[in-house]
Amino acid sequence: MKVLIVGSGGREHAIAWAVAKSSKVEKIYCAPGNAGISEFAECVPIGAMEFEKLAAFAKENEIDLTIVGMDDPLVGGIVDVFEAEGLRVFGPRKNAAILEGSKAFSKELMQKYGIPTAAYTTVTSADEARKVLADSKFPVVLKADGLALGKGVLICETPDDAEVGVRMIMEDKKFGSAGDQMVIEEFMTGREVSVLSFCDGKTIKPMTSAQDHKRAGDGDTGLNTGGMGTFSPSPFYTDEVDAFCKANIYQKTVDAMAAEGRPFVGIIFFGLMLTEDGPKVLEYNCRFGDPEAQVVIPRMKNDMIEVMEACVDGRLDEIELEFEDNAAVCVVLASEGYPVSYQKGFPIHGLEEFKGRNDAFVFHAGTKFSADGEIVTNGGRVLGVTALGSTLVEARANAYKASDLITFENKYKRNDIGKAIDEA
Ligand code: AMP
Ligand code: GLY
Repeated sequence: MKVLIVGSGGREHAIAWAVAKSSKVEKIYCAPGNAGISEFAECVPIGAMEFEKLAAFAKENEIDLTIVGMDDPLVGGIVDVFEAEGLRVFGPRKNAAILEGSKAFSKELMQKYGIPTAAYTTVTSADEARKVLADSKFPVVLKADGLALGKGVLICETPDDAEVGVRMIMEDKKFGSAGDQMVIEEFMTGREVSVLSFCDGKTIKPMTSAQDHKRAGDGDTGLNTGGMGTFSPSPFYTDEVDAFCKANIYQKTVDAMAAEGRPFVGIIFFGLMLTEDGPKVLEYNCRFGDPEAQVVIPRMKNDMIEVMEACVDGRLDEIELEFEDNAAVCVVLASEGYPVSYQKGFPIHGLEEFKGRNDAFVFHAGTKFSADGEIVTNGGRVLGVTALGSTLVEARANAYKASDLITFENKYKRNDIGKAIDEA
């Protein structure tokens, strides 16, 4: 089989790593890819939003399956473009990717189908927002409706904070049209857990759990980022929590989407909060998490292509997902100054230490080859170093040891990834 992967981050590197292990695959392309992905795949200089060019490439090169890793092309309808050309593609159509693309949609879906989530109101103007906020309990959470690079969620402690947020999202349009609507949501407290799942439109198979660290600084301080590190499994995702989510959240979501005429094929990422009143959905994403993929995929025993093909063919019920009985921790190495401003183009040293290892991996996020063929930094999040261990504590020690093998100027990492493991 020939496979095309669309995306360029650590998540796509982890997907490419898994796809390369499949006995069914003879050739992998990645558009646009990065320096690390080029170890497994031929990188093609086509952007993830260039749907027509990507489809033409897939046709010309007789691609048997395209895997879309990123949210923007999925929400933008890349799957519909590929399907219209008769191309096989793994990911939700536009009318299903809306589960991530519109928070107003996902909240309404959860309310209509009785899926546990925070109480909310959707507003379409700043004045309407002010009226709702006048009667709200604080803290309150404001969410721009559309995609906003993970920055469209504001937790407001006071009415003054909320006024700043309303202006930012709905009047100054800091996130563009993503702020045409806004969700005003009850603030919840509890531990956060991510559960990714495969779906074929009818059947859903959850993967092992994971936990992200979204803030830039140690102790969960500083700005929100795409994710500074992850661990899997989450010790807080107990059998009891799993049973609750299976009964009240996962299948209900897939059934709700099907009932709405929006069958979901691909990955549903459940962002859950374990509240005192039980698990509730914080958010849905329509793709693997980044860096959740970097800890979940290395623990998966199945052939990735077999599972994805079963999703596309609507026979996921035939597949049993299996994960290693071990643990994984990923420490993201970023450029100092991320997520605001940072320098790039610095040579990365130590990558060769990971060649041939099957207990520790480097997944590239923002890297590229310099003109003289050296691998250099090329983004805010540069690399994710994942290590396995028989326990979370062991995996964490291994991940930090492995992350020290890599050096580059302005290297920045959090030093407390997996701290919650000690509180379990
Ligand atoms: P989201 O993009 O919806 O996951 O929001 C980003 C982050 O904001 C989440 O991971 C939570 O940490 C936080 N958050 C979102 N919604 C709420 C809520 N209703 N209560 C408390 N924290 C929230
Ligand atoms: N790490 C969070 C996300 O991928 O949305």
